[in-house]
Amino acid sequence: MAIYNLGSINADYFYHVPHLPGPGETLAATDMTRGLGGKGANMSVAAARAGAHAAHIGAVGADGSWAVDRLTEFGVDTRHITSLADSPIGQALICVDDIGENSIVLLNGANHRIPESTIANALSEASPGDTLLMQNETLNQPETAKIARDLALYVAYAAAPFDAAAATAVLPFLDFLILNEVEAAQLQEATGKTPETLGITDVIITLGANGARWLHNGHSRDFPAMPVTPVDTTGAGDTFTGYVLAARDRNLPMEQCIALAMRAAALMVTRQGTADVIPDLKDVDGARF
Ligand code: RIB
Repeated sequence: MAIYNLGSINADYFYHVPHLPGPGETLAATDMTRGLGGKGANMSVAAARAGAHAAHIGAVGADGSWAVDRLTEFGVDTRHITSLADSPIGQALICVDDIGENSIVLLNGANHRIPESTIANALSEASPGDTLLMQNETLNQPETAKIARDLALYVAYAAAPFDAAAATAVLPFLDFLILNEVEAAQLQEATGKTPETLGITDVIITLGANGARWLHNGHSRDFPAMPVTPVDTTGAGDTFTGYVLAARDRNLPMEQCIALAMRAAALMVTRQGTADVIPDLKDVDGARF
């Protein structure tokens, strides 16, 4: 089976700061690093590192060939990434403070210009039972979800960064929804429905240091987080999503998928960076918490 991920690819510029800057504040960073990121790319890398065939559907600018090369090195199928001559690669300016919290500014760039033909070509290879994964850093999610539903794919969506209109439009097509507590409250406000009553088979609400909640067929089950001291929380949620869907793609029961993803996310927050430092299955299996 395979995971087709319609997702962003960003150049992540990390600035390490003593605290997150407030309005009007000028702040000196202690260092700056550049790496591969984007919620989409992070999830593709996580899924590949967890052993899945992850086919990324996306776009970069002419300045983004390094990002495609890196995705390939991490085991991602990059045949459905288009290079656009007239658009820059997406960018993220990420401030990370001393306790690992972040704030992020995005430039959409090529992520908002993924050709519809790229998406159609990718999905023409998919088979029933494969997974389509999406987030909110690209366009065309509802249209793509509808095609995937018609092809009998398992349609999964991470509602991040949260956008009420984008999330509401894609909801009717979903089998799997993952979101954090804040996003869950925002979605409830936008739809007037609780996560339990959305009519989606599997809903996971991530709770940060408090773990995660899985909602399935009217039942709710909580999973505790691993006790770790965070260095950088950026990309931990993406790692969780990639791992949980990769494990599901291997037909593991959802309880095991979530337990594995909790371990992967816990290890991820002990590392600085995003796609470049997502742990592989061997690291996750071997980690002691
Ligand atoms: O979730 C983390 C990601 O958000 C970063 O990699 C950054 O690119 C932004 O998309």
